[in-house]
Amino acid sequence: MIENQDRGAWSSKLGFILAGAGSAIGLGNIWRFPTIVGENGGAVFVIVYLLCVLLLGLPVMIAELSIGRKTKKNPVGAIIELAPGSSWKYVGYLGVLTGLIIFSWYSVIAGWVVGYLYKTVAGEFNNIVDPAITGTIFENFVADPVITIFLTAFFIGLTSYVLLKGVSGGIEKTSKILMPLLLVLLVVLAIRAMTLDGASAGLDFYLSPDFSKLNIKMVLAAMGQALFSLSLGMGTMITYGSYLSKKEDIVSSAVWVCGFDTGIAILSGFVVLPAVFAMGIDPSTAGPGLIFQALPGIFSEMPGGQMFGVGLFTLIGIAALTSTVSILEVPVAYVVDELKWSRRKSVISMALVSFVLAVPSALSNGASDFFGNLFGEGQSYFTVMSTVFGDLTLALGSLFIAVFVGWIWKSKNVFKEVEEEGNVFPMKGVYEIMVKYVSPIFIAIVFGYTVWDQILK
Ligand code: TRP
Repeated sequence: MIENQDRGAWSSKLGFILAGAGSAIGLGNIWRFPTIVGENGGAVFVIVYLLCVLLLGLPVMIAELSIGRKTKKNPVGAIIELAPGSSWKYVGYLGVLTGLIIFSWYSVIAGWVVGYLYKTVAGEFNNIVDPAITGTIFENFVADPVITIFLTAFFIGLTSYVLLKGVSGGIEKTSKILMPLLLVLLVVLAIRAMTLDGASAGLDFYLSPDFSKLNIKMVLAAMGQALFSLSLGMGTMITYGSYLSKKEDIVSSAVWVCGFDTGIAILSGFVVLPAVFAMGIDPSTAGPGLIFQALPGIFSEMPGGQMFGVGLFTLIGIAALTSTVSILEVPVAYVVDELKWSRRKSVISMALVSFVLAVPSALSNGASDFFGNLFGEGQSYFTVMSTVFGDLTLALGSLFIAVFVGWIWKSKNVFKEVEEEGNVFPMKGVYEIMVKYVSPIFIAIVFGYTVWDQILK
């Protein structure tokens, strides 16, 4: 197979699944999922979330991977190739922009993880179980402008380094070794967390649904979170699909990636929520600090806790890295393909742009009142960016991708692409109904209602 040197390719199906899972599994699973479950009342949210993965996530993932493998291009180039001369290319541009902004605020949180790794190594949490103390440590830490900006820059630099080493060398190798290790460590920690004193209230919250809590805002949050966690709606999976070889089975790869990702998210709920309740933290108001306050409480309650803490923060950091790599790869692949810049120049310039976008996010959590309340009392630059470019544009992007595939490119071309070298697309009729009707209508209703409820009403 002749490949453009600057594009690269996955070395095997397992390589792709692990890289795809590496993209999907990240802070979205370990940091954002438990936080959002906490804010949205627990078990009911989890049920809605699982439905979103099945009804939206899987069909859109198959759609994105097929578009990518068919065209072997970045999202903008891919859509231009499939619908030349149309306005559909703006869906690709929206993805490139979304990628830059998600990467910027995501790197701030990833920087916190690195900071917590350092704190754990230094023994700062040994024997601390009082949530008031872990809360204060967190607040002081994120309010320090120098440290948070430095750590953000560090993480952006790390991501750029991996991207410069190219696709299969950098991304694939990292994921292959470390994702399975993360799984094992989470299982051990979940067992410890679930047996803490007072943990059962957390399990109850997580597992017994109270349907009176169901509301449309929660459905939007679940939808946004499902798309975010599966890396959908901005062309990451188009880009990753473009590195996939024709003999691989897109459908089964997508099922594996969705399964792994959802499994890790659910598992981190079993680590974080029991600990949250055991420590007496209120999950509905804790915000982005939730896991940083709760996790130290688990480590101080187990033999060798410091070691487990160091292990966990290391692995979360690496999971975040395999995700940031896939986020920044979208703008980079766009510039490499469409502007014909070298990979090096593309990576460095995109990294610099996102660093500039990241600084206000780093300053949003106590360092600067201005950015902390930029969009009104308590509505920080960070909060708004992570909602608009973490939920809304991903939902919009997925809506357009589903409509594009269902109505313009047509599902028969997805089937053709999937079956290119002898693989079989199961349940074609179901898939067609999903991308043509179910996914787009579902997103449109939730999205439309939210816009009406929050802005127009
Ligand atoms: N899914 C990743 C996580 O859960 C983040 C991520 C990677 C992402 N690529 C993406 C989110 C593309 C949205 C779109 O941490």
